[in-house]
Amino acid sequence: MKAAVRTQYDPPEVLSIREVDMPEPESNEVRVKVQATTVNRTDCGILWGKPAIIRLFTGLSVPNLTSTGTDFAGEVEAIGTEVIRFQVGDRVWGFDDNGLASHAQYMTIAEDKPITTIPEGISYEQATASAEGAHYAYNFINKVKLQPDSKVMFNGATGAIGSAALQFLKYHGTYVTATANTKNINLIQSLGADRVIDYEQEDFTLDYDGYDFVFDAVGKSTFGKCKPLLKSGGVYISSELGPGAQNPFLALATPLLSDKKVRFPVPLNVPRSLEFTRKLLREGKFRPVIDRTYPLEEICKAFEYVHSGQKTGNVVIKMNNN
Ligand SMILES: NC(=O)c1ccc[n+]([C@@H]2O[C@H](COP(=O)([O-])OP(=O)(O)OC[C@H]3O[C@@H](n4cnc5c(N)ncnc54)[C@H](OP(=O)(O)O)[C@@H]3O)[C@@H](O)[C@H]2O)c1
Repeated sequence: MKAAVRTQYDPPEVLSIREVDMPEPESNEVRVKVQATTVNRTDCGILWGKPAIIRLFTGLSVPNLTSTGTDFAGEVEAIGTEVIRFQVGDRVWGFDDNGLASHAQYMTIAEDKPITTIPEGISYEQATASAEGAHYAYNFINKVKLQPDSKVMFNGATGAIGSAALQFLKYHGTYVTATANTKNINLIQSLGADRVIDYEQEDFTLDYDGYDFVFDAVGKSTFGKCKPLLKSGGVYISSELGPGAQNPFLALATPLLSDKKVRFPVPLNVPRSLEFTRKLLREGKFRPVIDRTYPLEEICKAFEYVHSGQKTGNVVIKMNNN
């Protein structure tokens, strides 16, 4: 079978498409014929091995897994002798932020890992694009208590995290002011933004409108700049550590020192995120945004594009696997 293979951390040039052995499922594993996967920001972190802390989980000096890929959608093609949750032929999808070697025609995963069935009417491309960004998005919004009258400022509503989080916030009935560049204003309006700030024309950190929550899904702001936007008791959450890696420390200090707090999302429970997203997909309340689709052979181009920070929503790799 074909897989994207590398033996060291570094830029996409270290990745090549090679013929490798088909993985054999252990007794508690299923083998999935991958139909679609994404290249996402977590994959970039794992490919480059940056930030360095990621290597505690993915291999200190060399990567533990030679193939990249953290999410997948495909068909169960073989099962181990003890598998009870899945059958051959099931349409499944899943995600693991430590890596799954899913940039390959086939992969194996234990049945008790984050894997679930794809709702009817959802394509493989849509399913895999509902994994990584949606997981982090869910872990933004579950860090706060949203009320129907909550007011949210959302910076960066066009990334994989942002486009999912915006839809999740609207699912909860929240009033959302969201930022996008000029070309994506229609997109975020179609995802439900109540008010839009064109970040190329206006600085959202000057919008002192009394927000309950400020979410920054692209990590371009700081708590210091956003604090004046928040009401007393308001919460700031960013997807990044901050320019001086201060956000985790502020999350510890601000509850003691300030009436406005920082929370830092530590997204651990992937099965819970998948279940939430699956429910919304089934109800037609969530549709992932897909920007570009590449074949596996062009995965280096996909990595370069995603690494540029300019994708809108998700970048899908479609397998030619039939
Ligand atoms: N904490 C974690 O575990 C974790 C995991 C995954 C990702 N992340 C981080 O989360 C962030 C978001 O990742 P993602 O995959 O959703 O998206 P992404 O690829 O980083 O973001 C792309 C989108 O962000 C928009 N954007 C760029 N600069 C902006 C700005 N100054 N203001 C508003 N929007 C801006 C871009 O719009 P344009 O078209 O205008 O450029 C593009 O649509 C990244 O910084 C990533 O490193 C964190």
